[in-house]
Amino acid sequence: MSTERPEVTDWATDWDHLTDDYARHAPQILDDLRERCPVAHTERFNGAWLPTRYDDVAAIAYDTGRFSSRATVVTDQSKFGLVLPPITLDPPLHGPIRRALLPPFNPKATAALEPKIRAVCERLIDAILARTDGHADAAIDYAQHIPVELIAHLLGLPPDDGDQFRTWVYELLELGPGDADVSRRASREIFAYFDAQLADRATKSGDDLISWVCRAELTEPDGTVRLLTQRERLGSLHLILVAGIDTTWSAIGSSLWHLAHHKEDRLRLVAEPELIPIAVEEFLRMYSPVTMGRLIAADAQIGGCPVTAGEHVLLSFPAANRDPAHFPDADQVIIDRSENRHIAFGLGIHRCLGSNTARLEMKVALECWLARIPEFTLADPAAVEWSHGQVRGARLVPIRIG
Ligand code: HEM
Repeated sequence: MSTERPEVTDWATDWDHLTDDYARHAPQILDDLRERCPVAHTERFNGAWLPTRYDDVAAIAYDTGRFSSRATVVTDQSKFGLVLPPITLDPPLHGPIRRALLPPFNPKATAALEPKIRAVCERLIDAILARTDGHADAAIDYAQHIPVELIAHLLGLPPDDGDQFRTWVYELLELGPGDADVSRRASREIFAYFDAQLADRATKSGDDLISWVCRAELTEPDGTVRLLTQRERLGSLHLILVAGIDTTWSAIGSSLWHLAHHKEDRLRLVAEPELIPIAVEEFLRMYSPVTMGRLIAADAQIGGCPVTAGEHVLLSFPAANRDPAHFPDADQVIIDRSENRHIAFGLGIHRCLGSNTARLEMKVALECWLARIPEFTLADPAAVEWSHGQVRGARLVPIRIG
């Protein structure tokens, strides 16, 4: 990620989520803005707003008429926009294709993935424990591999292509917002890759997600039933690949980073593994990875502040999840928080399609790790690094085991 962005003069009037400072300190920046300027603005990105209160974020997510999903990434190049159904579609186009894609993500289909996730986690841990120096990186050696292997399995793709998937995700989500050429090239490569895969499925259909997308039927508002077009298939597969990887990678990496330097929470989860699903919700709230963009489609208000059509909104689910008006001790991880209506998976029509999968991956990843690596600490807190862009997570988490 380029570090050569103009320095931010005041986060309330000149914010920039693509800076190194934001990558490192986003939670503190968002908390500070909520206190002193809850609907911040910047002239960058052709004009954009950054609301930090839960109620304002929720109101925008529900108001698809005034806040369009045509631009979900807030970048320097406002003209570049891919069509990735259903995430970039507004009503009435959004609903039919979302419904067509729902079945493979339902709770029953997701539960069947558990043995695969467990096997991946155990194999990664075997490799970590086989080392003799007692050092590892919880993000590099563990978190990053789990979603990549699972998505390859789900889509019916060769596991060896995993490195290529990670490269595309990095190019699209970390480099892409500041460099449209990198974004365009990565997307072209992804489309070409899935085009070949779809051609392959035409002759040998299986029970993977790509075969499913080939067979899926969409019901138009007038009742007509049809198969997805090739563009819809390619766009959906591109979206699923990108949405399923660095989100969960971030969430697992940040959870392990937390446990590496919060001994009490780590010991509690080791002693009471049945608490892990509740802890997963708290990690999702506190370290919410995903921030989305919206394009203002018609003049509107955000929390009483007038905003103009054509400008953008950075829709920060992470900021909403740290709003003390909604969560007592919002800036604290309470590992057994009993009431936790976080919105890490979004709200309204675009709520995450893969939330069941993501929760299962996080639960199994933490269960396997804590069962076999119950003692670990940060080897070098200063070496921890966070991703840039709209998906935030710990990318370097060097640890000492034992
Ligand atoms: C911890 C992991 C994850 C988080 C925090 C997360 C978060 C989100 C959020 C906030 C949205 C809403 C976007 C918006 O309002 O514009 C979303 C949508 C979506 N997510 Fe996830 N996600 C995660 C994992 C996954 C996985 C594993 C998959 C698939 C394998 C996935 C697939 C999708 C899809 C397809 C949408 C678009 C839904 C629509 O537009 O109707 N996500 N996700």
